[in-house]
Amino acid sequence: MVSSSQAFKGKVAIITGAASGLGLATAMRFASEGAIIVGIDLTPSEAWNQVTGLSPKSVFHRADVTDEQAQFAIAAETTAKLGRIDTLVTAAGVGEAGPLNMIEIDAWRRVIDINLNGTAISIKSVLDTMIAQRSGSIITIASIEGIVGTEGGGAYNAAKGGVVILTKNVAIDYGRIGIRCNCICPGFIDTPMLQSVLYIEGMDEVRKSILLQSKLGRFGRPDEIAGGAYFLASEDSSYMTGQNLVIDGGYTAGHAHGIVEMIGLV
Ligand SMILES: NC(=O)c1ccc[n+]([C@@H]2O[C@H](COP(=O)([O-])OP(=O)(O)OC[C@H]3O[C@@H](n4cnc5c(N)ncnc54)[C@H](O)[C@@H]3O)[C@@H](O)[C@H]2O)c1
Repeated sequence: MVSSSQAFKGKVAIITGAASGLGLATAMRFASEGAIIVGIDLTPSEAWNQVTGLSPKSVFHRADVTDEQAQFAIAAETTAKLGRIDTLVTAAGVGEAGPLNMIEIDAWRRVIDINLNGTAISIKSVLDTMIAQRSGSIITIASIEGIVGTEGGGAYNAAKGGVVILTKNVAIDYGRIGIRCNCICPGFIDTPMLQSVLYIEGMDEVRKSILLQSKLGRFGRPDEIAGGAYFLASEDSSYMTGQNLVIDGGYTAGHAHGIVEMIGLV
């Protein structure tokens, strides 16, 4: 759903991972609300044109979130040209599965580096501007796998758990300066990342098992996460900081075992 209330008119939002999936959906939602989007990703996507179509002053920077110099340069350029940074959404991330004895240590380091260190660097890069303006809303994208374990989750879960607690610390340290920081913990959302894991050969049963735990019986849509990011960036959440907004179709509400199907309720 693309809304166009223009609630974010004049606001500036930096969004990492903006070329795909949840970052792209959030960029489109914020752009449709009138925000200027500064998108960051490793490579632009054709879909990014939809963001500039909605908000023509939006810009895309090809950068790696683990590159401190590049991130600081983007934040400095944004502040110099647009005068402010109202919102940061850290959606850049990668998945990598494997129990600890099976995952290569280089893969472990890469997952921690992009998901956790990249998030910290993104946040650090906007803080000077937000402190100077004494306002800002930072939205990190962790995962339900940062609050509960999963088979073979290892590095990804450890990184996302780090993002959850980093969010709380940023909220504590900067709340009195007017900066809020909240986390979104998505469940299984239909994006290229999910498709690359769950729609490969041999994953049919795993996919069915996940769908059984999704109490709404389906994967989420990227715009359903963008809606949460809209809420956290807007004044509607003005008294909320340091929290996890879990958007998971009820996945973490508890276990389903097929009983409602057995008794014919569904
Ligand atoms: N899709 C899901 O089910 C799901 C669930 C929970 C959490 N998440 C998290 O949401 C975020 C977005 O995931 P998605 O599903 O949209 O995936 P996606 O693969 O569609 O998008 C992720 C984007 O991040 C970019 N990226 C990766 N590494 C980068 C780097 N070093 N620097 C800059 N950009 C980089 C990719 O190029 C890609 O465009 C990730 O952090 C992911 O862990 C996704």
